Amino acid sequence: MPVLTIQPSGKTIEAATGSSILSAMLAAGSDIGHKCEGKGECDSCHISVLEGRKSLSKTQRLENERLDTIVGVGSKSRLACQALFGEEDVTVEIPTI
Ligand code: FES
Repeated sequence: MPVLTIQPSGKTIEAATGSSILSAMLAAGSDIGHKCEGKGECDSCHISVLEGRKSLSKTQRLENERLDTIVGVGSKSRLACQALFGEEDVTVEIPTI
């Protein structure tokens, strides 16, 4: 079972393989935006993946198109609702911009 670590707090959450980062964070009471309820249609769940990126599901066209519209997006950026856990632990940070 992969473990999600949220920086800078260091909070850890056990997650199920195949579940999204967003669902794991919401289940644990973490404060993360989700205006479109996980449909990949907004940018409120934007996160930076610091570790474990290769274990996550690949980005799809919808996510890539949405990420292209976000100011401050970087190579570590993902939408938490579209990134599904694999088998490895993942560390993320919620950007402040
Ligand atoms: S909750 Fe809207 S894109 Fe993720």
